[in-house]
Amino acid sequence: MGERTLLVIKPCAVRRGLVGEIISRVEREGFRIVRGAFRRLSREEAERFYEVHKGKPFFPALIDFITSGPVMGLELEAPDAIRRLRQLMGATNPAEAAPGTLRALYGLDITQNAVHGSDSPASARHELEVFFGGWPWPT
Ligand code: RTP
Ligand code: MG
Repeated sequence: MGERTLLVIKPCAVRRGLVGEIISRVEREGFRIVRGAFRRLSREEAERFYEVHKGKPFFPALIDFITSGPVMGLELEAPDAIRRLRQLMGATNPAEAAPGTLRALYGLDITQNAVHGSDSPASARHELEVFFGGWPWPT
């Protein structure tokens, strides 16, 4: 039981063969995998997914990157999942992420930063709807 959130393993980490390592770490930290999908987002889906960033200077690069290859999306459940996943991920810029966090370990730069995690209950709901086309999953 607990809160639901969305983890997305980004194209840079998929290309580098880090999916298994990241999922292992997430399970070890006590998150339950509710469902997962390995797929490439269309531009339209990516723009809806990241709609809060529309108009920001980094938006075009963000959309180009997130649609550049397949991603692994995982709906996760744990007590306090949203906050705990963000803590496990580390800061947006891998150079500033705390040692041992997913971005410090696997991120390359501020765009190719390995993982995405929802930052609030409202964004979790929005992102799970865009990624999986429905929410919540009953299991
Ligand atoms: P995410 O949404 O991917 O989990 O990342 P976040 O919450 O840590 O960061 P957010 O502010 O939501 O930004 C979304 C993604 O946009 C890229 N970004 N680039 N060049 C820049 O200044 C800049 N700022 C953000 C990052 O790839 C970030 O993950
Ligand atoms: Mg964000």
